[in-house]
Amino acid sequence: MKEIRKVGVLGGGLMGSGIAQVSAMAGLETIVREVSDAIIDKSRAGIEKVLAKGIERGKVTTELRDSTLKNLSFTTDLAKLAECDIVIEAVVEDLELKNAMWKDLNEVCPAETIFASNTSSLTIAAMAAACGRPDRMLGLHFFNPVPLMKLVEVVRTITTSDETVETAFEFVKRLGKEPVRAKDNSGFIVNLLLIPYMLDAINALEANVATVEDIDKAMQLGAGYPMGPFTLLDFVGLDTTYKIAEIMFDEYREKRYAPPPLLKRMVMAGMYGRKSGKGFYDYSVEPPKVSSLGL
Ligand code: NAI
Repeated sequence: MKEIRKVGVLGGGLMGSGIAQVSAMAGLETIVREVSDAIIDKSRAGIEKVLAKGIERGKVTTELRDSTLKNLSFTTDLAKLAECDIVIEAVVEDLELKNAMWKDLNEVCPAETIFASNTSSLTIAAMAAACGRPDRMLGLHFFNPVPLMKLVEVVRTITTSDETVETAFEFVKRLGKEPVRAKDNSGFIVNLLLIPYMLDAINALEANVATVEDIDKAMQLGAGYPMGPFTLLDFVGLDTTYKIAEIMFDEYREKRYAPPPLLKRMVMAGMYGRKSGKGFYDYSVEPPKVSSLGL
């Protein structure tokens, strides 16, 4: 099994910054590739802020912060990732963009370098075919916020070698995360089960079974979930949920993955949830109140 010493991260957005942070915190030399210096500054500042908060809360020592920042570097030049043992991709969810990058990176990295994608909804197979090293391509699906969420789905597609899976599995443990193995089916494990659950909640609302607040309360207190489905939908983002549901519906052609019309209407209206200030709840007031949906 290959030892991972140097980690490359493509994209320093929400997920890429988190992945780079946990990798550098685990003592691994980590290099992030972004498209501009301005975004690099934003990513670095974001990581510094998370570490500073960690120090405030007594969860991070100043030594750990210093070593993390020392392990971390940024570049706009893809060729700087040449010595990485693994490259994790967390750029925008666009297959053409991802595959163009894999193609370039295949020229830059040695044959042993593992390529991993953090995609939520694309199939790993679609990247494995294009990346020039189908046996060394797999999915590593992290959860937001990466520094806090323990789970990583290690996704093998039909061409991934056993050695690649084992190396990636051990690497995830080294990051202090909990790996689980999943097949390259649309939704992997978590979204496969979670998306139909959230869609069912919307269907129940449309069928007037109960109100947004009562459905949330019922699942929290009756099923022991940390938050109800509508609060969760607002967190995940209605646009993201809609997009993932469409992709899953397209793959399985089953009604349980079909996005309900209400979800589509809300996305059309720009009601994306917390990120847009309004979804099933209106976040412009404190505490947030249920949005009027004309139901
Ligand atoms: P984001 O929009 O916050 O970050 C994407 C970053 O990629 C941006 O900073 C952008 O400048 C950068 N980028 C674009 N083209 C690039 C290129 N050619 N080279 C390097 N960087 C480039 O998106 P986010 O939310 O971090 O998502 C990234 C990936 O992670 C997507 O595939 C998404 O499906 C997946 N994901 C997202 C989760 C979430 O909760 N947001 C959870 C798990 C996976």
